[in-house]
Amino acid sequence: GKVAVLMGGRSAEREISLLSGNGVLAALKSRGVDAHAFDPAERDLAELKREGFSRCFIALHGRFGEDGTVQGALELLGIPYTGSGVMASSIAIDKVMTKRVWLAEGVPTPRYVLLHRGAYGPREVVEVPDALGLPVIVKPSREGSSIGVAKVEGYSDMAGAVAQAVALDADVLCEQFIAGDEVTCPVLGTGPTARALPVIRIVAPEGNYDYQNKYFTDDTQYLVPCGLPPGEEEAIQALVVKAYRVLGCRGWGRVDVMIDAATRKPYLLEINTSPGMTGHSLVPMSARAAGISYEDLCLQLLASASL
Ligand code: DAL
Ligand code: MG
Repeated sequence: GKVAVLMGGRSAEREISLLSGNGVLAALKSRGVDAHAFDPAERDLAELKREGFSRCFIALHGRFGEDGTVQGALELLGIPYTGSGVMASSIAIDKVMTKRVWLAEGVPTPRYVLLHRGAYGPREVVEVPDALGLPVIVKPSREGSSIGVAKVEGYSDMAGAVAQAVALDADVLCEQFIAGDEVTCPVLGTGPTARALPVIRIVAPEGNYDYQNKYFTDDTQYLVPCGLPPGEEEAIQALVVKAYRVLGCRGWGRVDVMIDAATRKPYLLEINTSPGMTGHSLVPMSARAAGISYEDLCLQLLASASL
C-alpha cells in the first residue's frame, strides 16, 4: 500500500527533518515502495486516511513530530507508524523527564538543575554553577540538534545562556558538564529483541559538536569502530538498551552518551526517538558499520511500523 514519509513539520529542526525525510523517501522509492512525502505543517493528518495511506515513516524531529503528538493522531486514525508510541515519545522529547525515569531505574545521567520560565530570578541562575560546578551545559529541555545549547564557562555567562534557552522552551535544563569522550549508540527493535548497533565516537572541532558541526561542516570525525578501551563499547551498548527499554521505546532510537575521562564512567544525556537520517547522521553510519545499508535500514524500520 501507499506509504507516507512524514517530514518537515513546525519544530526548530524542520530543515533537518526535510533532509532526513528526503533521504528516506528516495531510499524507499529505490526499493519499489510506493512512498510519498507528507508535511504535517502544510496538510491535515486526516488526509492520510482519505488518500489511502496504509503506513507512515516518521522522519519528523522535535516538537509536533517526535514528541507523541503526531503519534497520537496516527493512533486515532489507525495508521501504523515507525518508532516509539505516544508515551515513550513524549517522555523522550523532554530531557528532564527522561532523566527522572533513568535516575529511578539506575541509569546514570549527569546531575542537573531545572529552571522553569517565570519561576526563577537572577539569584537562582547564578546559584546553578555552585550546585553543578563549571562548565555548565544549558539547554532547552525539549529541543534537538543542539539548538539553543550553550556551554557556560563562567558565572557571568549564565544569564545569557539561560535567556537563549528559555526563549525556546519554558523548561531550561542546566546540566553538569562531563569532560571526556562523546559517543552515541543506536538501538533497533522492540522489547526483548531490542539490540544496540556499533557505538560511534564523535570528535568535533574544539569539542564543539553543535548544529553547524553536526550537519554542515566536514570537520567532525566519526569513529566507528569507536576505538574505546576493551569492554567499554559492550558496557555502553548494554546500558543504552536498558535506557531504551525502561522508557518503553519501540522500533529504533539513538542514545547520546559522555564518558568521563577521569573515571571512565558513562553518563547518558538523552534519547532521540526519531533520529536524524541525513547524509551526516549517525544511525545510518552505525548501521553501515554493522552491514546494513541505508536502504535496508529504511525498509527494516518501515517493516516495524505498528500501532
Ligand atoms: N535531533 C537530531 C535529528 C538527531 O538526534 O539526530
Ligand atoms: Mg536530541
